[in-house]
Order: sequence, then structure tokens, then C-alpha cells
Amino acid sequence: MSDPDIVEVLFSEERVKARTQELGRAISQDYEGRTPHVVGVLRGVVPFMADLVRAITIPLTLDFIAISRYGPSTRTRGVVRLIKDLDETIAGRHVLFVEDVVDTGLTLNYILNTLRRRYPATLQVCTLFGRAVRRLVSDLPIAYKGFDLPDQFVVGYGLDYRQRYRNLPYVGILDPRMYLPDQKE
Ligand code: PRP
Repeated sequence: MSDPDIVEVLFSEERVKARTQELGRAISQDYEGRTPHVVGVLRGVVPFMADLVRAITIPLTLDFIAISRYGPSTRTRGVVRLIKDLDETIAGRHVLFVEDVVDTGLTLNYILNTLRRRYPATLQVCTLFGRAVRRLVSDLPIAYKGFDLPDQFVVGYGLDYRQRYRNLPYVGILDPRMYLPDQKE
């Protein structure tokens, strides 16, 4: 049963769970003998990261950063500011940076540049969703990706509209009436 504001479920809870398990298995194999330091960017990554780390079977450590953008119009320029830094140093560590979605890639590019300056031993990216159709930055080191998203307004499993819908266990297309007031009956 989906939320009444969702017009179509694109990635069911079962599908997301199965793919997350696969990613966890791949990461566990690839990092065998090392301790990945899993870093997430708040807030959208929380549901995925919580499930991903439980799908990883080797020892790991966790940390989070939070960013803010100066305003909606700056989004496309990738102007972001760190508002919560990492709690621990990453020099010499095997950092696995986790995202819920990479659209333009500008946010990821900014964060990776910030992390690289701190000399991690390795730096890889795992994202649940990529949206290649919106990508502005190429050559991003995305080692693990769950699914590609269509160019539609989707919410759920961390993805929000005005901070809502993050708790849906699936990802679906939001009814345009929720964000286009003139389409309300
Ligand atoms: C999302 C996502 C990425 C960013 C990707 O965050 O978590 O950080 O957008 O977009 P980009 O590739 O075009 O830069 P959002 O701003 O929605 O914040 P949230 O994580 O709090 O939902």
C-alpha cells in the first residue's frame, strides 16, 4: 500500500532491500582486510546508510557531514558550505563516501575535493541512485551504484519534498499536485 501522494512506485521496498544487500556484499568483499570508514552526508542518506552498513559484514566505522546551500539558485553552481564537519580525522583511512542520490554531481564533487585534501588512503563512493540525465560533472569515482533514476520528481527512502516523505520504505513519483498548486482540483 503506497502513500496517497505517490502516483507510481518506481523502486519497491523489496527491490531497494535486495540491491542494498548486493552492494553490501560487494563492499564487504572489496574491502576485506581493511576497515572502511563510511561517511554520509545528511540528511537524505540516513535510511540507505543505515541499511547499507548492516549489509556490510566486515568491521567498519561511521561518520557524517552536513552541508547547506546558500539558496536554490546556487544549487546548480555547486556552492555548498560545510555546516557539520567530520568528527574524526580521515588521513590514512579507507573512506567510503555514501550518498542517496547523485544528480548534477556538483555536491559530490565539492565534498570529494574537501575530503581529498585530508589525505585519505583511499576514497570511493557508493550511491543508491544516480541520475545520469542531470549530470554536469563527469569522471566522478562512483564505485558502487544501486539504480539509475529517471528525470522525474521522486521521493521516499531518504528523498524528500520539503522534508517530507523521507520515511517511505520505497521510492516513487510524487503527485505533481503536491508541488504545483495550480494543478489542484
Ligand atoms: C541531495 C543528495 C545530494 C545532492 C545531489 O541532497 O543527498 O547531496 O542532493 O545533488 P547534485 O548531484 O545535483 O549536487 P539534498 O540537497 O536534497 O539534501 P538532503 O540530503 O537533506 O535531502
